[in-house]
Amino acid sequence: MIPICLTVNGRVVSKTIEPRTHLADFLRERLNLTATHLRCEQGACGACTLLIDGQPARSCITYVALCEGADITTVEGLEDDPIMVALRRAFSKEHGLQCGYCTPGMLVTARDIVMRLSNADQARIRTELSGNLCRCTGYVGIVRAISHVVDERRRGELAGIVRQEGPLGPVGARPAGSNSGRVTNAPTAAPSARKETSLGEIALGLGGRQPNVEIKQSFVVSRSPADVWNFFSDIAHVVPCLPGASLIRPPAGEHVEGKMSVKLGPITANFVGHARIMRDDAQQRGVIMGAGNDQSGGSRAAGEAEYVLEPTASGGTRVMLTIRALLVGPLAQFGRSGIVEDIVARITEAFAYNLEARLTGAVSVDDQSVQAPLKVGTLFRQVMWARMKAMFATIFVGPKP
Ligand code: FES
Ligand code: FES
Repeated sequence: MIPICLTVNGRVVSKTIEPRTHLADFLRERLNLTATHLRCEQGACGACTLLIDGQPARSCITYVALCEGADITTVEGLEDDPIMVALRRAFSKEHGLQCGYCTPGMLVTARDIVMRLSNADQARIRTELSGNLCRCTGYVGIVRAISHVVDERRRGELAGIVRQEGPLGPVGARPAGSNSGRVTNAPTAAPSARKETSLGEIALGLGGRQPNVEIKQSFVVSRSPADVWNFFSDIAHVVPCLPGASLIRPPAGEHVEGKMSVKLGPITANFVGHARIMRDDAQQRGVIMGAGNDQSGGSRAAGEAEYVLEPTASGGTRVMLTIRALLVGPLAQFGRSGIVEDIVARITEAFAYNLEARLTGAVSVDDQSVQAPLKVGTLFRQVMWARMKAMFATIFVGPKP
């Protein structure tokens, strides 16, 4: 148990908590603030959205231990807020809710839209709302309600609170050790002024830190371990097998610099990173220590990947992969749920496909233009669709024996 002190709806709260407690659980179970709803508990639906230091955040994937000194505001704390009053009225008038389960999170996001975007049209409102899912309304009433309040505000009929833009990133997810004092709503730096980090400054691997993503996967290719090991010795041939990845410059010994583009739902990350690749010829085992950041989106990743080759009975090779990584930033919201694991599985599948094509000569190893028939941009939809199918199968057919 650890002590925590933070401000919730203007009241200073000091408690002792389990380090693994999430903010939403803390608010609901310890403070009886039950307007913050929990649905997916994996950062996807937005039902748990509240404000941390004035910025919308997912409380289901925020550790309360990382909110030491933070200013938390739930919908209960916005009862008299003029924009929230206008939004509640507009939601009622436009039938912007049915069961109401999504409504607290929807209202918090709506308030943020009204405060930031004085000219938002309905298309923009829909885009901004894409992180809040409603299973009842069809969104028409919600979008219309927000649109009315945006108009009211533009006409000067609402109090002039302006949300200051802070840097993108996981509000509330401040690193341990930086918790002293209350963090205000003042931005630390405008996004455009964010410090560019040179690759040399990014420490490789986990460096003793705890990973928040741990994945084990394996795949089989038809060629022998010797062939696969030999292929892996040339990183310039390996990288094009990875969907969305490319080298920035030719490898220098064990060191490589590359980039990778990943799109997850509304988030696009263009990672630039570097890695060190170590190989053990005797055991046909390799370790890759890497780190990278998405300087436009604020996500960062560092970690280690280990691969081991094993012969299969049919003369092929099983490649066993273990990834341990620390993901920080907007993409980290997907880490807890297994969505990252599903996505890595699909990238691995595509990698295996590309590898096989090159090993068998179907694609030239020097052909950088040919990659797997996987659209990285559709990964999130594919994964969510696969999950929904599994969920419906469980509901209507029953669990697998
Ligand atoms: S419950 Fe937090 S995003 Fe769904
Ligand atoms: S009103 Fe029911 S989930 Fe949105």
